[in-house]
Amino acid sequence: MSNLRTIILAAGKGIRMQSDRPKVLHPVCNKPIIQYVLDVVRALGVQHIYMVLGHKSSEVKNILGKEVTVVIQKRLLGTADAVKITSAHFRNYQGDVLILCGDTPLLNQDTIRELIKKHKKTKAVCTFLTEVVENPKGYGRVVRNDKGAVTAIREDKDAKAEERNIREINVGVYCFKGNDLFTSLKEIKINLKKKEYYLTDIIQILIGKGLKVETALTDDHQEGLGVNTRVDLALAESVMRKRILKNFMLNGVTIMDPETTYIQTDVKIGRDTTIRPFTIIENNVRIGNRCLIGPFCRIRPDTHIGNNVEVGNFTEISRAKVGDHCFMKHFGFLGDALLGKRVNVGAGVVTANFDGKKKHVTEISDDAFIGSDSILVAPLRIGRAAVTGAGCVVPGKRNVPDHGVVVGVPAKLISRRKIS
Ligand code: UD1
Ligand code: MG
Repeated sequence: MSNLRTIILAAGKGIRMQSDRPKVLHPVCNKPIIQYVLDVVRALGVQHIYMVLGHKSSEVKNILGKEVTVVIQKRLLGTADAVKITSAHFRNYQGDVLILCGDTPLLNQDTIRELIKKHKKTKAVCTFLTEVVENPKGYGRVVRNDKGAVTAIREDKDAKAEERNIREINVGVYCFKGNDLFTSLKEIKINLKKKEYYLTDIIQILIGKGLKVETALTDDHQEGLGVNTRVDLALAESVMRKRILKNFMLNGVTIMDPETTYIQTDVKIGRDTTIRPFTIIENNVRIGNRCLIGPFCRIRPDTHIGNNVEVGNFTEISRAKVGDHCFMKHFGFLGDALLGKRVNVGAGVVTANFDGKKKHVTEISDDAFIGSDSILVAPLRIGRAAVTGAGCVVPGKRNVPDHGVVVGVPAKLISRRKIS
């Protein structure tokens, strides 16, 4: 989006989180809060992203890409001060400025797009996002006059009794005309109760000058959630989890029990796959079509599962590739494993991938049959159509040849399997 620059405010200490970790790095569905805000901004295609950091800034910087310009707020003097310190980057800039808070992970990009559209259409100097919520406690309230026009944003701590009943809140997303923003910002006075400069005070200042302020109301009652406490964090997790699951269901994945299914971000699941109850699927997992996963299954990051695969109860799969038509119906662990096609993994099979220092790979070739309770010590290759007998231990580097049949502890080759 041309002629639009963005400021993300993320310098705060997040005191109410009671944490040693910066607030915006706390994960929601295993992705840092700030990443959600960044993803929304990137999707809008804005020209420049400025992020205001302060508390433990280097930890946050570590997860940012090069397209983000970091501005450091040394003293945390409030949201207006945070915007003010970016002003050097906006000299001679004539366009609009989108401001977001770094602690609102549930924002939808379509909502922000609509806000910007309204801002341009109405030619307002400021358009900000509002939402009507059940419990507005802690948020800035949108104060309106008899005609319904906005007159101010009143912060929770400063709200009079009748203002506390207002359920329309300020989400913390604003689109400003750059010039008017930086001029009026200078006029904001310190809030004596909190000893901070409130960005929200700018609304009254702009209106006092006869300038046009507009609002855009979102009808999603959850997207404005600001994560200030661990209670908010749990709420954000639950909303995001439901969104993720709904998206899969609408795209042809059966989720038998959404209440007990946890799917993190950057996961792909193909059509007609069924996820049974008590299943956790972590970041960056791919699952093909027509698979049956769970119950009580954990699929850990960077695992790729092909089509028509069955992964049953009490199973854990980590950093593995599993080819089409494989079965692992009962309890077991596959870690750093590469399975070809049509591999049958019996009950209780374990790939022993860690030697105490390093992780090693186990390769199991097409059509292999891994007997119940086999322990495969990595690094190891099990050949095509090979068989490991029940209860065997195949030591590391003792590769099993194609069609080889091994049994015992340690496993020994006893015959050749006669299938093509
Ligand atoms: C703020 C708004 C409130 C709104 C709510 C929405 C103000 C004064 N209030 O309140 O109207 O309803 O967000 O979630 O703006 N930050 C800095 N530097 C600072 C202080 C804060 O960068 O000196 C950052 C924080 O890291 C955070 C964001 O600004 O990401 C908002 O600050 P926070 O303290 O969470 O404000 P709220 O009390 O939630
Ligand atoms: Mg907040």
